[in-house]
Amino acid sequence: MNQKKTKETLAAMVFVIFGGSGDLTWRKLVPAGFDLYRDGRMPKHFAIIAVGRSATSDATLRARFLDGINRFSPKGKAKSSDWNQFRRHISYHQGDYQDPATYTRLGEACDRLDRDWREKAIRIFHLATPPELFGIIPVMLAGAGLNQDRPRARIVVEKPIGHDLASAKKLNATLAENFHESQIFRIDHYLGKEPVRNILAFRFANPLFEPIWNRRYVDYVTITVAEAEGVGHRGGYYDQSGALRDMMQNHLMQLLCLVAMEPMVSFDPDEIRNKKVDVLHALRPIKPREVRRYAVRGQYGKGRVQGKNVRGYQSEDEVATGSKTETFAAMKLFVDNWRWQGVPFYLRTGKYLPQQVSEVSIQFRAVPHEAFPPESRQDWQASRLVLCIQPEEGIVQCFQAKVPGPKMDLRPVKMRFNYLGSPPVPSPDAYEILLGDVMHGDVTLFMRTDQVEAAWRILMPVIEAWGATPPKNFPNYAPGTWGPASAETLLEPGHRWPLPTVLTEPDKQL
Ligand code: BG6
Repeated sequence: MNQKKTKETLAAMVFVIFGGSGDLTWRKLVPAGFDLYRDGRMPKHFAIIAVGRSATSDATLRARFLDGINRFSPKGKAKSSDWNQFRRHISYHQGDYQDPATYTRLGEACDRLDRDWREKAIRIFHLATPPELFGIIPVMLAGAGLNQDRPRARIVVEKPIGHDLASAKKLNATLAENFHESQIFRIDHYLGKEPVRNILAFRFANPLFEPIWNRRYVDYVTITVAEAEGVGHRGGYYDQSGALRDMMQNHLMQLLCLVAMEPMVSFDPDEIRNKKVDVLHALRPIKPREVRRYAVRGQYGKGRVQGKNVRGYQSEDEVATGSKTETFAAMKLFVDNWRWQGVPFYLRTGKYLPQQVSEVSIQFRAVPHEAFPPESRQDWQASRLVLCIQPEEGIVQCFQAKVPGPKMDLRPVKMRFNYLGSPPVPSPDAYEILLGDVMHGDVTLFMRTDQVEAAWRILMPVIEAWGATPPKNFPNYAPGTWGPASAETLLEPGHRWPLPTVLTEPDKQL
């Protein structure tokens, strides 16, 4: 990745946020922008232009943004001295996204800033809108000529990129007609999370792990992204999406790519993206008649979570009565290449699971010959390496050790790396990392067209089979449980979905 430039050397920036009064802007984008500012990573000249349809004043919008920073920034509440400076950079532009006049006015506002600053600013157009507008705004921007300065005009698109392979291709084609690939930043915020970025460092900056990172030593891999909450206020969006599209197609596939990819030759953005896309190309396609063997879906019913009654998915706000949308999805995938032949990768994600946890577990094979007497290995567990992504951030190696004493008793123990030092220093939010990279024009952590399409291609047989045969047993899991019992049927004999690894949990005394 590019060396980050300092405040003095960074070019002037204009951040134009479409969906400026929306949830993402409030929760993520503005807090990330403010954190970049208080870290001294914003240029001297910058402006945030929030674009939205509703009528609101600069003052109201700024007050909402301050509230978002105070609630959601991992760096804590804003100091009034910082906020009083930062707020001056924010303005609101009301406009209809389909009206060319909105874009003409935006272009004029950007030109005025260039004149005031005596510098041509980098213009970042961030689409934080409902996905229906992703195909419209790029065309309108191009209509106003705002796409033309290739080194300086950038467009940021949030997921979902399409609803299936065909719509993703259509959207990518629209983007490509109006912007060059080097100008397009497709966000998957998981790629900005520190422990996810650390996967490359862990694998390829240490000679220790790479020699055993293959089918000879690894028995199976599980990737879990579990959420403890239900769909909350996002029922309208989620009901059109579901766990497969909302999480599996992007966040879990990205984790799979980082865990399974071959070593990169350089840190060139396209070299890394090529290696990741190779994994998707190597995934064994799922035959339509075999979908049941490779994918399981679930939907939560009503129940009790942490002592409170909660509604079933079908009774959530803006969810269709009798909805068949899955809130849980699990898959078994095989990477058909020399490194991974025959090693199952089990992926699962869902809402209202017992706890919020994202982790990758690499389960190693048992030793080839168990020489220890049976009584010494009653607690035996094959070695396992866990990449903890959230809420705890770190790495745990579980292995066997001898219990002190006269006998040869073996017990599993854990060796830990925990990001949180003492005192704990929170990692930057993923959006702070990603917006910083957009400012520097570094596309490494963003999804390329072919990667998005390859991920859809793998899921299409499942999407089609599930669409053609609506589930008869929904809801099929209680909130606060690990999803439907059928998730177990994906596992091969001797394999299991691991319980989350708690980094900070004290070891049982040996
Ligand atoms: C989003 C999904 O991409 O990721 C949400 O649309 C989900 O449904 C969220 O809740 C999870 O992100 P995180 O960072 O909280 O794990």
